[in-house]
Amino acid sequence: MSIEYISDKELFHIKTKNSSYIFRLRKGYELEHLYYGERINDTRGIEFLSDDNFLGATLHAIDSEFTEEKLSTDRMLREYPFYGSVDLRCPAFHAEYRDGSRVTKMKYLGHKIFSGKPELDGLPSVYAKSDEAQTLEITMADSFTGLNLIYRYSAFEELDVITRSVTAVNTGNSEITLDKIMSCSVDFDNSDFDFVHLHGEAWRECEIERKPLVNGEVRISSARGASSHLHSPFFALANKNTTEFEGEVFAFSLVYSGNFELGAEVDSLKNTRAYMGINSFDFKWLLESGQSFTTPEAVMVHSSNGFGEMSRTFHNLYRNNLARGKYQNAVRPILINNWEATYFDFNEEKILNLASKAKELGIELLVLDDGWFGKRNDDTLSLGDWYTNTDKLPEGIASLAKKVTEIGIKFGLWFEPEMVSPNSELYHKHPDWCIHIEVREKSLGRNQLVLDLSRKEVCDYIVSSVSDILSCGNISYIKWDMNRNFTEIGSSALPPKRQSEVAHRYILGLYNVLERIKTAFPDVLMEGCASGGGRFDAGMMYYFNQFWTSDNTDAIDRLKIQYGTSMVMPSMFMGAHVSAVPNHQTGRTIPLETRGLCAMCGQFGYELDITQISDDEADEIKNQIELYKNIREVIQFGDLYRLKSPFDGEKTFFEFVSKDKARVCLFYFTHSCAVQCNTEKIKLKGLKPDSAYKCNKQIYSAEFLERFGFDTENLQDNSGKVYLFEIQ
Ligand code: DGJ
Repeated sequence: MSIEYISDKELFHIKTKNSSYIFRLRKGYELEHLYYGERINDTRGIEFLSDDNFLGATLHAIDSEFTEEKLSTDRMLREYPFYGSVDLRCPAFHAEYRDGSRVTKMKYLGHKIFSGKPELDGLPSVYAKSDEAQTLEITMADSFTGLNLIYRYSAFEELDVITRSVTAVNTGNSEITLDKIMSCSVDFDNSDFDFVHLHGEAWRECEIERKPLVNGEVRISSARGASSHLHSPFFALANKNTTEFEGEVFAFSLVYSGNFELGAEVDSLKNTRAYMGINSFDFKWLLESGQSFTTPEAVMVHSSNGFGEMSRTFHNLYRNNLARGKYQNAVRPILINNWEATYFDFNEEKILNLASKAKELGIELLVLDDGWFGKRNDDTLSLGDWYTNTDKLPEGIASLAKKVTEIGIKFGLWFEPEMVSPNSELYHKHPDWCIHIEVREKSLGRNQLVLDLSRKEVCDYIVSSVSDILSCGNISYIKWDMNRNFTEIGSSALPPKRQSEVAHRYILGLYNVLERIKTAFPDVLMEGCASGGGRFDAGMMYYFNQFWTSDNTDAIDRLKIQYGTSMVMPSMFMGAHVSAVPNHQTGRTIPLETRGLCAMCGQFGYELDITQISDDEADEIKNQIELYKNIREVIQFGDLYRLKSPFDGEKTFFEFVSKDKARVCLFYFTHSCAVQCNTEKIKLKGLKPDSAYKCNKQIYSAEFLERFGFDTENLQDNSGKVYLFEIQ
């Protein structure tokens, strides 16, 4: 049993392989949080963790239910803090009721524990296969307003994670307006943490920031309509001494792709309240009588062995229990994307030449990017008009797909279905189908507007126009792009009192569209993209089996981007391509070998004009492809050990270990001048104890490699090398 209810103490104990999460019911009313951390096997006495010494706290009111004991929820660790009474710290829940009041007082009504894990209505979520998870649902009720809240916890014992979500149900007769409803909130009895999160920009995704918590609040959010390049829906609280390999981490990842908020508040008693959910800024949700609202899911990971173990836990969970479909466990094809090779300037002959050359080199899939539809010769027009641009492809997309397939490689196609160009047939026909406010000018981003996916007819249009193209049968892959954020948010299909629901309704519409397309075309491999990593989040991983990590293809910049992204995302989801030099984003010239090795640390592909390369380059590319085919299972399905960070110095090491520990790939990069240095002895991790490995004809014991390290050679600036180890 991974979830236990100890009735005499009214204690809930949620257990995973290495962690425990414990709270209790007090006076049949309030849920008091007691503990989250390393697994506890014997909970006797755990209730004494509660700090009841609240006397003398004159500023803190005493809850009516706790008058006798003089307890104040303002000083208590609470399980899911709602606003309106004694606890005046940052609430997880805030709503407005018929009388204009904003006071919520939930009382425990009951709970149930059951095997498995329910799906979340219309939302992506981690799923349980057979009985690998157990779920606890606690129902809380506010008799005055008729609001019920269901707190949902699922424990995945073996995968070592706990997932959480909350459902609000209006059982009363009057409307309730939800202002804030977090997916999870966790109170800690100390504040001695560093706050770790990922921030960035397009071309500079997922930089890692680590800073000590201070009194007051740190809050990270997106109000852009997408999870965004700027911040990721992930954060961790780490002990001060936590490193990549050692120390305690509490990590949170939100399975959601829209506006989110997350943060931590340190109160006057040095307690920390951590939370995560839909962004409450510019959000309201009207719950009519009988209606319910479910939050996205938050995933909680506790690691006692640093950030590395935290990431491997996320990787295993997201590969095995979030990703779905035919490609979930299939090796990803090596692809060529024509974007940086041609941009908008291509015709059928050019694409077929690329396909023939790709076949010759060993590439398995060609993806035709932007520019194949409507009158699209630049980015000012035709988004929404999903029919072939016959100026470029006179015989149509179906014919091109067939010809590429006949060459012997698969064919993939780019779409940006959520967008519309003002200069398009779709816009002229349906000017009100975009997100806008009637009386306001519409701001353009990349010359385009966002379609209003809160409207069913818009979602239906997207499903049918994409499906019509895919139905030709020879399209095995789609790249689903999204290149601008929301402005002037409004929907002409919703009444004024529901306008603050648009951003979330959009995401629900998007999930619905993606689900329908994924179901109708189960054999199509779907790649997500949002100007690179602008929406690379766990919500998207439910639909897309890979993601374009960044539009920055400079190999040295990519080391940081891929390192940061791997905090949560597995390598097999991280699209990484070899592009031309000088690099189109940075102007830097990096050797082909380094570009290849860096791309191999993700989902490998090419993005340069291979019809223009020299014979030597072609030979080198053939060798790269052969090498990647040999090792891709280790990279895509194995365990990642980030041995040395590109954020910390002049060398980066990534180690991938196959699940059976028989094969190890050690990638090594130098990214700033490393001449006249000692060679680097890098200590490997995750090897099979008491065994030996062969590398470059030498035999090393696992103990030697982990204790003393493998002696790498000195490389010049911007160089890379991979060492392969096979168990003996
Ligand atoms: C942005 C993407 O990130 C690029 O890879 C490319 O697909 C362009 N959009 C096409 O417009």
